Amino acid sequence: MDTKYAIGLGNNDVLTRKRAKEDYVKFWDEQANNLHWFEKWSKTLEWNPPFAKWFVNGKINASYNALDVTSQKNGKKTAILWEGEDGKKRSLTYQELLSYVCQVANTLKSLGVKKGDRVTVYLPMIPELVVSLLACARIGAIHTVIFSGFSSQSIRDRVSDSKSKVIITADGGFRRGAIVKLKQVVDEAISGLDFVEHVLVYEHTKIPISMGKKDKKWTDLVSGASEHCEPEKLDSTHPLYILYTSGTTGKPKGVLHGTGGYLVHLYSTFQWIFDIKESDIYFCTADIGWVTGHSYVVYGPLLHGTTQVMYEGTLVYPTPARIWEIIERYKVTILYTTPTALRMFMKYGDDLPNSKNLSSLRLLGTVGEPINPEVWKWYFRVIGKEKCPIIDTWWQTETGGALISPVPGLETIPLKPGSATRELPGINVAVVDDHGIELPPEKKGYLVVKTPWPGMLLSLWNDDEKYKTVYWSKYKDVYYPGDYAIRDKDGYFWMLGRADDVLKVAGHRLGTAEIESGFVSHKSVAEAAVCGIPHEVKGESIIAFLVLKEGITPSKQLESELIQHIRKVVGPIATPDQLYVVSKLPKTRSGKIMRRLLKSVANNEKIGDISTLEDEAAVDEVRNAFSELQKAIQESKVK
Ligand code: WTA
Repeated sequence: MDTKYAIGLGNNDVLTRKRAKEDYVKFWDEQANNLHWFEKWSKTLEWNPPFAKWFVNGKINASYNALDVTSQKNGKKTAILWEGEDGKKRSLTYQELLSYVCQVANTLKSLGVKKGDRVTVYLPMIPELVVSLLACARIGAIHTVIFSGFSSQSIRDRVSDSKSKVIITADGGFRRGAIVKLKQVVDEAISGLDFVEHVLVYEHTKIPISMGKKDKKWTDLVSGASEHCEPEKLDSTHPLYILYTSGTTGKPKGVLHGTGGYLVHLYSTFQWIFDIKESDIYFCTADIGWVTGHSYVVYGPLLHGTTQVMYEGTLVYPTPARIWEIIERYKVTILYTTPTALRMFMKYGDDLPNSKNLSSLRLLGTVGEPINPEVWKWYFRVIGKEKCPIIDTWWQTETGGALISPVPGLETIPLKPGSATRELPGINVAVVDDHGIELPPEKKGYLVVKTPWPGMLLSLWNDDEKYKTVYWSKYKDVYYPGDYAIRDKDGYFWMLGRADDVLKVAGHRLGTAEIESGFVSHKSVAEAAVCGIPHEVKGESIIAFLVLKEGITPSKQLESELIQHIRKVVGPIATPDQLYVVSKLPKTRSGKIMRRLLKSVANNEKIGDISTLEDEAAVDEVRNAFSELQKAIQESKVK
């Protein structure tokens, strides 16, 4: 094994893994003692497959653990070093953050929000986003964050599903020098939704906004509110949040996370993965609109009293050196980012990072997509100067926290560029075939999780049946994440991407089905099929095949109208890179679109088994349309 990349942190805790192997339930029970509980649990795990209850009868509060615990010890410690895209800077101590959270919690109470009510949060990456989440957690309200790259229709779908009583938003946010008008998007999204009682608006950009009957200004209510708010003593299984994520079918699913188990998972994994120290300056570039931001910007770091950098805008704006300037300015010690961001940085060359002082860095993390070995090596060599371990963490919205990752906080093992190494202590995973039989090393199969883990989702919001079918029907009592993987002879995992129709575009998780229904909702489109093709920077890019309705002729104008339509109904993050009009889509005899085949065509791969095709001509048609258009694109040099 290549030991060149084994960067020793000096940790060699063999006991933790040993204990976890002997009895994973007892192991997690011990881990739970790291948190503050108002009342101790009576049972560590109640497992009625596929429903797990962790730390049954324990009483806990997420905001208390994230804020009060550190405030009582060292309230002056900086929690957040925030930088706006326009260069504005703010810094909040743990005590300040706690007081602010209490004010917002009291404001929510005054608006009638009660334990168990849902609150939708649609904010840019500003401290108020962290504050809003913790304010909900403090009073037992369930937060549901929507990434600010989603459109009004997407918000409407999610708000309608969660039946949120209150929406927290801002006038706007800065993105690449422009202002995204968030409040306006919310107005469109909730028009006519009577169950939404209030919209709380934080004025961040100070652009003019129209204020309707439901709208309240943040400053009007929050500044006058009390800085004390007793944390609710919540059941360990009380829902902490819903986070909508894309799956293989239809509308996004509301992944529901609980409190006690989730926090235990984050406390331990944050410690093991980042070997976190009191003096660290941690910087995770993820947006809180996604799970990485929930787990490893909000909850994980705050549970440890960590000081972190939070940045509002695009990492390469106003210049591609922005990210390296931030690291130099705040003397960041731990950087956690995505392969897409790294590929983008890499394209700008080595001179930019080399021109900044990055010597404070000691640990480098990556998440969200498979990382190409050459990108891994670049990160190791150019950013980490061959002295920082690369921590590739594999997990999902549903898993709550990392399941496969190196754990420098516990042990030093040789790293292999492109592998997330091994499962974390207390996690039992395997690579299996279609029948659930464990495969020998080096064989590609499906990753599964064999036993419950504390961060696992409780269920899907209001949809236990879907929860059972999506994750627990492929294999009995075993969790199916939907990823391909190989385990090598050394027991290292190589994650090979999704085995289903979920896309990862620039690290953003999108479902082909939601983009397809977006297209079909346009008056000119009869049928749509969407798939992902490899992209140099984004990992994957979206390609769409459309069948138009009778009598509609394709044109450049229609094409741009359709792209605008997708941006409007799903969001800018779902913009296809390529769009092809065809007269027919390849389908199985039962009428299902053969997406795998489209993907093969789009990737210029050999077409495999086409025996299930209704009409072989359709394949040629798609192939012809594709090569014709590809030619046209090359000739016109239009992207
Ligand atoms: C993929 C993001 C390879 C995987 C935290 C998973 C990864 C999906 C990695 C979940 C990694 C995440 N290596 N692939 N280190 N991390 N993935 O819900 O396909 O946005 O199923 O959670 O991202 O995406 P999600």
